[in-house]
Amino acid sequence: MPKYVLSLDQGTTSSRAIVFNTAGRTVAKAQQEFPQIYPRPGEVEHDPEAIWESQLATARQALKAGGLAPSEVAAIGIANQRETTLIWDRQTGRPVSNAIVWQSRISSPLCERLKADGLEPLVREKTGLVIDAYFSGTKIAWMLKHQNGLRERAERGDLLFGTVDSFLIWRLTGGRVHATDVSNACRTMLFNIRTLDWDDDLLEALKIPRSLMPEIRPNSGVIAETDPAVFGAKVPIAGVAGDQQAATFGQACFRPGDAKNTYGTGCFVLLNTGNEPVASDNGLLTTVGWQIGDEVTYCLEGSIFIAGAAVQWLRDGLGMIRESSEVETLAALAEDNGGVYFVPAFVGLGAPHWDSDARGTLIGLTRGTNRGHIARAALEAMAYRTRDVLDAMQRDANIELSRLKVDGGASVNDLLMQFQSDMLDVPVQRPVVQETTALGAAYLAGLAVGVWPDLSEIEKNWALDREFRPAMGADQRESLYAGWQRAVKRSLAWARE
Ligand code: G3P
Repeated sequence: MPKYVLSLDQGTTSSRAIVFNTAGRTVAKAQQEFPQIYPRPGEVEHDPEAIWESQLATARQALKAGGLAPSEVAAIGIANQRETTLIWDRQTGRPVSNAIVWQSRISSPLCERLKADGLEPLVREKTGLVIDAYFSGTKIAWMLKHQNGLRERAERGDLLFGTVDSFLIWRLTGGRVHATDVSNACRTMLFNIRTLDWDDDLLEALKIPRSLMPEIRPNSGVIAETDPAVFGAKVPIAGVAGDQQAATFGQACFRPGDAKNTYGTGCFVLLNTGNEPVASDNGLLTTVGWQIGDEVTYCLEGSIFIAGAAVQWLRDGLGMIRESSEVETLAALAEDNGGVYFVPAFVGLGAPHWDSDARGTLIGLTRGTNRGHIARAALEAMAYRTRDVLDAMQRDANIELSRLKVDGGASVNDLLMQFQSDMLDVPVQRPVVQETTALGAAYLAGLAVGVWPDLSEIEKNWALDREFRPAMGADQRESLYAGWQRAVKRSLAWARE
């Protein structure tokens, strides 16, 4: 029985592939960035071929780096940027256009119309989501309406929709399988989180033919085998999950009350709420965590659109740093934020505000403000935004958080992690393996083919790298946070008349 699992982590800015062993440790990995396309302000696209080519190349590189033949891989797991919307031709497999990325606000006007038509309570009830351009449903509707001839082709049954997971499965199987999983499906605004199926009322409201939609599968289980042309031998694809749910799984957040935050392009906080969906009264999303067999685990999610992307902006937009990692040194030059707050609402604000018209705000500047203060404000913003959503989560789920598990690029930043712990007043725990997204997908795949027998074996693999304990007095904490809340108020509705 092969002992390795290959995980494909198709993220917003890069494709990664990682081979894990049974201890859940990295054996080999590869990563490739691919271009971001910004056609107009607020719009973001990806070239589907760039997604595919970079993902395939990294998978092959990782196998080569690990000296592994495909026959030594027990299974493939896929984790992917969620909501990003692709449509391709059923016959040729050719995408009809660029993918519309989750960050894109292109369908905001349609969302406003749906809200005005009073659809919000229905959407909330059925999908656990709010009406927002973030989710795939209105992106599909926008494509069918605005791209030449697409509606007719869709109605003839010639087209297929998929999030990135479906597209990769389609390509990996040589066009034999059109499938997705529940954790990706539940981000489309077309999926009923109770019946676990596409919802006819919502498909109709958005005029989306059902023939476009992929088959929905649980997160762990053999979906298909790869086409031999891809790796030279067949390998089962046995685990698929949206990247944030995969990270929650990789962090072994298996019990209600367990929470994780991933600091990537955005920040996504997920709290396990158990086997029943918990409705949010505080602007959070109710989402499927994962389905294994018939058992479904639900989560509350706080989606923060911009986190690490603010540091990238300091690097690429302002040229303030050469490498993202320099932000910590720069921020450390300032003893505190000097009264500066940076709300990086570049594409509006997600949870719990859901304001498409919010825009980035840098406030509190004085003649004494320097680069250190701005770098610090960019880091602090991730911690304040995390507190925004965790405060809302604790109110919704009526629990008190006892610790937060962290992962993702910026979780290596000690200054930020300490500040996060200070801001939440709970310990922040960083695991040894910070590639928890890829690891989660590997676990889901490995569970299906017997690499790991059960969740308790997986839990044993979780090991602490470092715990950050709160060290800030309540007065200072609350006064800093009050400043943040004032800054957020000023960024809300900025782009509205
Ligand atoms: O919902 C969007 C999320 O899945 C993107 O994650 O890690 O690619 O920024 P990431």
